[in-house]
Amino acid sequence: MKSILVMISGSGSNLQALIDATQKGTLDGKIKEVISSSSSAYGLTRAQNSNIPTHVHTLDTYYKDIPATDKGKRKQAREQFNVDLANYIVDPEHKPDLIVCAGWMLILSQQFLEILEKHEIPIINLHPALPGQFAGINAIERAWEAGQNGEINVAGVMIHKVITQVDEGEPLVVREIAMNKDETLEQYEERVHQTEHLAIVEGAQKALQTLCK
Ligand code: GRF
Repeated sequence: MKSILVMISGSGSNLQALIDATQKGTLDGKIKEVISSSSSAYGLTRAQNSNIPTHVHTLDTYYKDIPATDKGKRKQAREQFNVDLANYIVDPEHKPDLIVCAGWMLILSQQFLEILEKHEIPIINLHPALPGQFAGINAIERAWEAGQNGEINVAGVMIHKVITQVDEGEPLVVREIAMNKDETLEQYEERVHQTEHLAIVEGAQKALQTLCK
């Protein structure tokens, strides 16, 4: 059975969808490990509740002695964060067949991606918008606002291959969401998360079948 490493930063509801799918048999993989960029992410608890090994890799530990004003040193520290993370993942003890970014909130560097590519480990990411729409942070809020302003009447979520251009890799799964006028942000967000939980399982399954060696 192929192995999956899931990267998170927060509540882990998408991680939970993946865990549930492996237990239901709708995802033919084993979640080997969960890595979080935050030590307080509830997703760590979800993993531990399912006896899945966890690892925390935070940017703070790399920034801790560097003043925010020292942009050069912070840039170096961020690159080291990426390289150390990639080297941790490609270590035979941790190496998965597939990486799924499920609410991982940090941009992965070119060097990170090159190390993973050298080891032929594909990475996919969940982004709560349609291809070419609202790349980057706060996509849910931005889509909702555009819907309320009548600028768009369809938004959605996608699972895409991770490349250095943020949220622009080839889509594996795209699920559209019709925008409802006068819907609150919370109501829209709830529909987005429900859609994400389906898309992330579909995307992981498709990646295991088509992207993994
Ligand atoms: C999701 O909405 C995802 O699209 C965004 O962050 C959220 C992660 O939620 N990047 P969770 O941690 O999986 O609950």
